[in-house]
Amino acid sequence: MEHPARLTIGDPATANEPLGPFEAWFAEAKKSEPRDPDAMALATVDADGLPNVRMVLLKGWGPDGFVFFTNSESAKGNELAKHPKAALVLYWKSLSRQFRARGPIEQVSSKEADDYFHSRERGSQIGAWASQQSRPLASRETLEQDVADRTEKFGDGPVPRPAHWLGYRLVPLEIEFWSEMPFRLHQRIQFMRSAAGTEWTKRRLYP
Ligand SMILES: Cc1cc2nc3c(=O)[nH]c(=O)nc-3n(C[C@H](O)[C@H](O)[C@H](O)COP(=O)(O)O)c2cc1C
Repeated sequence: MEHPARLTIGDPATANEPLGPFEAWFAEAKKSEPRDPDAMALATVDADGLPNVRMVLLKGWGPDGFVFFTNSESAKGNELAKHPKAALVLYWKSLSRQFRARGPIEQVSSKEADDYFHSRERGSQIGAWASQQSRPLASRETLEQDVADRTEKFGDGPVPRPAHWLGYRLVPLEIEFWSEMPFRLHQRIQFMRSAAGTEWTKRRLYP
């Protein structure tokens, strides 16, 4: 049986901050989702104010925020350079739960990016050099040739992290836990704070 205090920390309806409940939900999702419990939609906005959205993987999280990695020269990288704010959503179908967060974006340290980059498979490290993410690609062969050339160039040596391959952290100012309930009377619990490091307030929202 779960310890009552633990239950309180992990339940958005009774918790007074959102990280405990996130930890509990994410741990459950890792057990129940058939794949990619860390897949999240990341929304940004372009220079014209037009929203853009795509999936990325949640590679780290904690009191400071939610971390993902990408090419800073990609569409999202350029959008974040102009408007360093984003929203993310994870949907865990197996649990009928949705988790949302919004807030400013900051870059993670070079060390954090290096550590994660080098934890990836060598093929993915080389791929990060070969992919000019989001830019037009003449043919599949062009990409494959570039990968082959770089594989030969790096030989058996280490693959350094490309300078354009960065980690970003969404610092949440707003977080919502949504869980499915009968007759579409779903539960929505929203946490808000005015800035990082300040107290969270909480309210329920109509479904
Ligand atoms: C499940 C899933 C996970 C993905 N994870 C990442 C990721 O962590 N980083 C990334 O740059 N692209 C990831 N992608 C690819 C992106 O969705 C997207 O195609 C790419 O980043 C280019 O997006 P952009 O042109 O909007 O910058 C993922 C795609 C899927 C379907």
